[in-house]
Amino acid sequence: MSETQTLWWASESFWKKMAVWITAGSAVVLIFLTFDTVNQITAGGKRVPPYSVINNRIDYVFDEKRNYQVPVIGPEEPLFGKVLNEAEAMALVSRGKLTTQAKNCMNCHTLLGNGAYYAPDLTKSWLDPMWGSKETREETMVAFLMDPTDKLHNTIGRRMPNLGITEEEARATVAFLKWMSAIDTNGFPGNFPTIDQSDPAPAPESVSAPTETPAL
Ligand code: HEC
Repeated sequence: MSETQTLWWASESFWKKMAVWITAGSAVVLIFLTFDTVNQITAGGKRVPPYSVINNRIDYVFDEKRNYQVPVIGPEEPLFGKVLNEAEAMALVSRGKLTTQAKNCMNCHTLLGNGAYYAPDLTKSWLDPMWGSKETREETMVAFLMDPTDKLHNTIGRRMPNLGITEEEARATVAFLKWMSAIDTNGFPGNFPTIDQSDPAPAPESVSAPTETPAL
């Protein structure tokens, strides 16, 4: 078959040009996606809040359009009662992240869906109602992380071992978990329950506390 008889779409030069254009086109798309992804995953970006979000209440509301719960940054509710600036918050959250890596929490848990399936996903563990009221939540978590062995609080029937976490590491880990719970994960984990973050009713003690001490 001579050169002139070759159909245009079967010619070698056509396929060479196609290869060049497809490679160049894909490179452009990949560069765009890289920047878009970096924007989506950077703290302070579209989906991941700044580290200083740990100074606020993390609320969730049902979004009709997206058909799942989405995070809403609520009023100021500083972790351990102390407002941190962005740099301090970043240092604390990073310390917590390093702790989760050093202690290999992913060996049992998943974080943002990555890890093992022995224990519950930790993405929104900050919001677990079993930590109690917003006043005691962080301290209960610290106490749990430092000594989880005798605490069985969900129905999976497995216990977390004592990993020798120091108080400083536990506090940083709680900061990391609080920050992570504010990430917009497109509704992940799926069966995430509605969380009542409203201010709890006054504790029974304060209600029944005598206003006048009877003279004895
Ligand atoms: C050897 C396995 C194992 C490792 C490693 C482990 N955990 Fe756990 N963890 C568990 C199990 C099992 C539970 C469930 C305990 C329960 O419900 O009583 C649990 C529960 C938890 C909870 C409560 C979850 C919730 O939603 O209420 C948190 C928070 C937690 N772990 C954090 C951590 C962190 C942080 C690390 C790493 C520093 C870690 N775990 C390492 C096994 C592990």
